[in-house]
Amino acid sequence: MKGRQLWGFVAVMIVVLTIGGVLWYQHQQAVATIQLQTREATAGQALFAAMCETCHGPGGNGAGGAPVLNDGAVLQKYSTPASLSAFISSNMPASDPGILTTQEATDLTLYIFQLSHQFPPTHG
Ligand code: HEC
Repeated sequence: MKGRQLWGFVAVMIVVLTIGGVLWYQHQQAVATIQLQTREATAGQALFAAMCETCHGPGGNGAGGAPVLNDGAVLQKYSTPASLSAFISSNMPASDPGILTTQEATDLTLYIFQLSHQFPPTHG
């Protein structure tokens, strides 16, 4: 390879590797987010059984008389994790609102997204 061709090749490789690196990094970030959200939803499942099931039924099936939480209807009202989590934080459990930590409200929110077959959430 002549000198100019070599430098051209090096320049192309730098561009290719940079783009590849950025895409790889973004992919890793997305994978890490989904892994975190999956752990949070699992924690939410245990919290739900302990604190929410008496009124909302097992798996949010509504058996306790409070609204069903497993058919997606609640996500028509609170369509983002942030809005659902804010509602839960301020209003639930109805018998003792305000007792949840921010992390617990997030865990419960992700569990409800999972129950609604909208997991992982597509936006924050
Ligand atoms: C003492 C009974 C009771 C408990 C315990 C309870 N809830 Fe509720 N929940 C209700 C009632 C009643 C409503 C409907 C009235 C309202 O929206 O405030 C409701 C509404 C909701 C809604 C909104 C549903 C909709 O379609 O508008 C969500 C989400 C929710 N609860 C989540 C939870 C979570 C998560 C927990 C556990 C931390 C929990 N609830 C515990 C009684 C309860």
